[in-house]
Amino acid sequence: MESKKTVLVSGGAGYIGSHTAVELINAGYEVVIIDNLSNSEESAVEGVRKITGKDVPFEIVDTCDKEALRKVFEKYGFDTVIHFAAYKAVGESMAEPLKYYSNNLVSFMNIVEMMKEFNRPNILFSSSATVYGEADELPVTEDTPRKPATSPYGNTKQMSEDILHDCCRAYEGMYGIALRYFNPIGAHPSALIGELPRGVPNNLVPFVTQTAAGIRECLSVFGNDYDTPDGTCLRDYIDVVDLAKAHVAAVNRMVSDKMEAKYEIFNVGTGNPVSVLELLTTFEKVNNLKLPYKIVDRRPGDVTAVWADTAKANDVLGWKAERTLGETLKSAWEWEKRVRGL
Ligand code: NAD
Ligand code: WQD
Repeated sequence: MESKKTVLVSGGAGYIGSHTAVELINAGYEVVIIDNLSNSEESAVEGVRKITGKDVPFEIVDTCDKEALRKVFEKYGFDTVIHFAAYKAVGESMAEPLKYYSNNLVSFMNIVEMMKEFNRPNILFSSSATVYGEADELPVTEDTPRKPATSPYGNTKQMSEDILHDCCRAYEGMYGIALRYFNPIGAHPSALIGELPRGVPNNLVPFVTQTAAGIRECLSVFGNDYDTPDGTCLRDYIDVVDLAKAHVAAVNRMVSDKMEAKYEIFNVGTGNPVSVLELLTTFEKVNNLKLPYKIVDRRPGDVTAVWADTAKANDVLGWKAERTLGETLKSAWEWEKRVRGL
């Protein structure tokens, strides 16, 4: 395997990792997936293989296990790692902070340490718009100051960004990119891979699709008294395939030695604020169904509005979100139907 053309994808059986693996392969990269399946199933890797027709190598590895990780580095030649492997439930992180600090930080530091030990240059890290908190200016640019994290999960993203920045500055030959995702939604058009939340979903779109499928009785809209046009919160919902393509653009930049600094940050969103009610109405319209929902109290911790200024990703990465909200919400429903056998 040619090292520049091979990418290690940690957490590649997960939602965003599996879609990214597909787009990397479509772009001509070889992909090696590792995952401990703590929040995913091997069927996602099968989905990647089916879509791409490639026998993608997959190993069950916990990235917190340094020795197991070292074996992966010994076995495969790759220049670039995309590190998705982390826990991501904000609420759970409030209840079990240590679980989040130990998994998300240890796993990331192990990756960075192995990259250094094996002289592998490029680290792409999954960060989040959560680092901006309730921003003073909208849309947020990459230079908008981060607010103190309001959850241990958010804190692990801020700390990991800082760890990556420090390590890229300190270690010759190490380059890092942090992609700050806004709200990833939707599924691959084949409906062979998508989001597979365990238990009651925390995020809006899986709750919407499960309600449409009859698994949940009624969707709760958390507050309609926000200072926004229709009173519900505004977010920047980014299609998961578009998001996956942003990773390919970032990897292209790294492997072609085009980085202008050793550590770079990009917002990955559409640049369009969408309210909860707008999203629900669009979902109903494109899928031709009615969704039972009720307005309830605000959810503690929710910010009123956040959306991305995407100029940097557009100009520097040459990447732009392409799928419409309607197309994305259709894909989310197609995926839910396939999973439920509807
Ligand atoms: P996901 O849970 O579907 O994927 C994460 C994968 O990592 C899972 O397959 C899980 O089994 C694996 N994993 C977790 N800990 C591991 C470990 N120690 N060793 C090996 N594998 C491990 O989540 P996702 O939505 O695909 O998110 C991917 C990344 O993007 C995460 O870092 C997440 O924090 C970040 N992110 C997600 C969102 C979102 O809304 N989905 C938004 C911003 C950032
Ligand atoms: C979106 C909107 C809710 C569920 C979270 C994390 C963030 C990032 C993305 C990882 C909000 C409303 C939701 C429901 C609702 N993840 N809502 N009823 O909170 O913007 O971001 O996921 O990095 O860190 O915090 O996403 O999908 O939970 O909510 O009304 O049943 O939908 O109030 O306005 P959020 P979400």
